[in-house]
Amino acid sequence: MSDDVITIDGPAASGKSTVAKRVADELDLIHIDSGSLYRAITWQALRNGIVAAQATISHDFLDAMQVSTDLKGNSITFLVDGTDPGLDLRSQSVAAAVSDVAAVPDVRRKVTECLRQAAQSRRAVVEGRDIGSVVFPNARFKFYLDATADERARRRHAESTVPSSGVQEVLHALQTRDRKDSTRSASPLTIPSGAVVIDTTTLSIDSVVDTILSSVSDDAGKAEKEEIR
Ligand code: CDP
Repeated sequence: MSDDVITIDGPAASGKSTVAKRVADELDLIHIDSGSLYRAITWQALRNGIVAAQATISHDFLDAMQVSTDLKGNSITFLVDGTDPGLDLRSQSVAAAVSDVAAVPDVRRKVTECLRQAAQSRRAVVEGRDIGSVVFPNARFKFYLDATADERARRRHAESTVPSSGVQEVLHALQTRDRKDSTRSASPLTIPSGAVVIDTTTLSIDSVVDTILSSVSDDAGKAEKEEIR
């Protein structure tokens, strides 16, 4: 298992995706969004008439599902049974069902395996909910981004392409998902041990990216000095 990864965990709309992509760009690493794989599996389950209920995600259904990857720029795209779900990943139906699907232990096992495989031969920035705690517990660099629920709802509302939902509606959906993600028994959202916690509520993307880059380069500098000694 590669430990040479940078993990970025945190709740919905804490800034993970934008920050992870920028850090990967700056360091010339690949970017892996684990949430996109949970969303892709959910999308495929919905297409097959499996509606969120945990018990209906069978072992056979998951076993038969082929997950492959494609590199677009420096970001990994996950294909399910040969298809890239594209913008459907961000649909309301997928958003409403994904936390239930992600709570199924067999689903988590499959995703964890795919993530470890995707990061096996390339250095990567991997973002999600359990990346520093479960998927890459020995990662050299771990970060946890957070922000108040109101600020996260404001951000998600601003980037939303669904004109009918107001900020309060977005806040409610986001809090429901946060609650499910933090209270499930299989790999709940948690601050991984050894992670640097960054509250992004009042910070710009640039300053979050800078904080991560300096923490990574400080550590690399220290390692170099120790080698010279
Ligand atoms: O973009 P946003 O933070 O709203 O969500 P996402 O990263 O696309 O993740 C969607 C959902 O997948 C989360 O709400 C979790 O239920 C699940 N997930 C997870 O359980 N573990 C991960 N490592 C990543 C996502």
